[in-house]
Amino acid sequence: MQYRVAAIGGDGIGPEIVAAGRDVLDAAGERYGFDIDWTEFDIGAERYLAAGELLTEEDIQDLSKFPAIYFGAIGDERVRPGILEKGILLAIRFHFDQYINLRPIRLLEGVQTPLANKRPEDIDFVVVRENTEDFYVGIGSRFAGGREQKTLEVLREMYSIRFGLDVETDAEEVAYQIGVITREGAGRVIRYAFDLAMQRRKKVTSVDKANVLSDVYGLWRDVFSEVAAGYPGVSTEFNFVDAVTMWFLKNPEWFDVVVTPNMFGDIITDLGAMIQGGLGLAPGGNINPSGTSMFEPIHGSAPKYRGQDVANPFATVWAGSMLLDHIGEHEAAAAVLRAIERSILEGFVTRDMGGEKKTSEVGRHLAALVRTV
Ligand code: IPM
Ligand code: MN
Repeated sequence: MQYRVAAIGGDGIGPEIVAAGRDVLDAAGERYGFDIDWTEFDIGAERYLAAGELLTEEDIQDLSKFPAIYFGAIGDERVRPGILEKGILLAIRFHFDQYINLRPIRLLEGVQTPLANKRPEDIDFVVVRENTEDFYVGIGSRFAGGREQKTLEVLREMYSIRFGLDVETDAEEVAYQIGVITREGAGRVIRYAFDLAMQRRKKVTSVDKANVLSDVYGLWRDVFSEVAAGYPGVSTEFNFVDAVTMWFLKNPEWFDVVVTPNMFGDIITDLGAMIQGGLGLAPGGNINPSGTSMFEPIHGSAPKYRGQDVANPFATVWAGSMLLDHIGEHEAAAAVLRAIERSILEGFVTRDMGGEKKTSEVGRHLAALVRTV
């Protein structure tokens, strides 16, 4: 069996961790009888600085031929924050309609969690983050008086009532950003969460803020309840996002599948990353079940460590395991995860985890382990 996979190393430590991950996946392929045909893309800050290109039409055409993209990280100190993130990472998620952002929160054997008295069996859930809607749709504006206010009568009223200012004549600044939830968009990701729960401990928690942002998340909750009615064997719960940050710390064992709109998903998965041992151990999959999906560590590009061979490759290798699962190589995916666990138990880890190994050494070690573990 042969699979074609696109590789985007990206910026900072991205190329080093993706190189380590590729070696591990190739070794898994040798053991389990498949072969990955990698195609590298030079998408990232260097190309942007040289040619002004973010994600081009040609990139999109080319990437659409692959079932999966293995992605490192983007972000570079020479580029204003937001340009590469929006122009590349979010552009890929949105363009390929990768509406599921799957982020496992799982404490592996041998990993330290900052939570007292919690063991691997207590921290094992999955956050299903909606990945194409909410405040990420990019509808908003920032302006100073006299221009767009006609579209937002309510802003003008608020502004004059509260501050006694008239946005039309006083050149005061106003900004707004719109969160969008659609019945279709919420429905498809919530159904995915329920299907996933059916294969796990059969519990789904919706995380939202319907008590305040009651239009968008009111619709989200309605759709959640409608979908839930079709899964009588699955227990459900609603949590507000502020409260869930407490419960993640206090009672992580309560959670099985958590489904949440885009922005809250972004926030709570960084918290989740910490309880599973840090960003160095947090992978994510951006999934379109019938299109091009993308697998990445959820951490950033850490430009100050670029080229030093010190970055922790575990999150990226784990993302590679998710990639293998996605293309149907389940045994190989499980072996990759076992290799990570073994390496951690042996103390064969990078500096951030208290070890002294280099990125490339850990990569080679995992590639060796995955052949036998
Ligand atoms: C993430 C990141 C991105 C996000 C940024 C880099 C655009 O924080 O993948 O969690 O907000 O989704
Ligand atoms: Mn994030």
